[in-house]
Amino acid sequence: MGKKPLYEGKAKQIYATENPDEVLVYYRDDATAGNGAKKGTIADKGIMNNKIASFFFKLLKENGVDNHFVSMPSDREMLVKSLKILPLEVVVRNIAAGSLAKRLGLEEGIKMSCPVVELYYKNDELGDPLVNDYHIKAIGLATETQVAEVESIALKVNEILTKYLATKNIELIDFKLEFGLYKGQVLLGDEISPDTCRFWDTVTKEKLDKDRFRRDMGNVEDAYKEVLHRLTGEVR
Ligand code: C5P
Repeated sequence: MGKKPLYEGKAKQIYATENPDEVLVYYRDDATAGNGAKKGTIADKGIMNNKIASFFFKLLKENGVDNHFVSMPSDREMLVKSLKILPLEVVVRNIAAGSLAKRLGLEEGIKMSCPVVELYYKNDELGDPLVNDYHIKAIGLATETQVAEVESIALKVNEILTKYLATKNIELIDFKLEFGLYKGQVLLGDEISPDTCRFWDTVTKEKLDKDRFRRDMGNVEDAYKEVLHRLTGEVR
């Protein structure tokens, strides 16, 4: 990757392509937590996340949820549609964990009676604060129609992934999605991987996601390998 990226994120770079409607995402092994406060690398994470995210994007497309995925030209590269990203992080939660458990004083692992959708303002300087429909409208982060669409797609993604992952003995605790506009339409973008989801083994409740890095639990690479293996059969 000799040329200069259009955008450099915490774990990915985005490059222009010859097609103005598409960009190339390059997945690195860098890992951060606490909005960059903790930094490290997870061996081959870029490869595993690219493969896992590509798998999920294809699965979602097959189940009627269109998204930015075009193809996976190499182990660390994903070709995607070029989106104008909405400055929102959309979190869906089935089981209390992480910041929700802390904020509401819930024990981690408590199943909630319905999925919870939360919207955060995507802004590193502010630490991605939680916002509601009023904030979003008042400061113009997205239109009401866009918010409704984003929430409806997020809940559909939750249904599809929860059902699929159950067949692989993985419980989908919660996850974060990002969306953008492509030719004026709201489209699912970013990635879906152990970096952006909480996956627990259904039986043992073992954590198979980035919480192992965030909480210094060890066996981080093995957790990513296990998810890739359960989804695709690949042994690394
Ligand atoms: O930390 P919190 O409990 O709010 O995270 C909820 C979900 O969103 C988790 O699956 C986490 O991996 C994901 N997330 C993310 N990027 C962030 C914040 C949360 O992928 N900046």
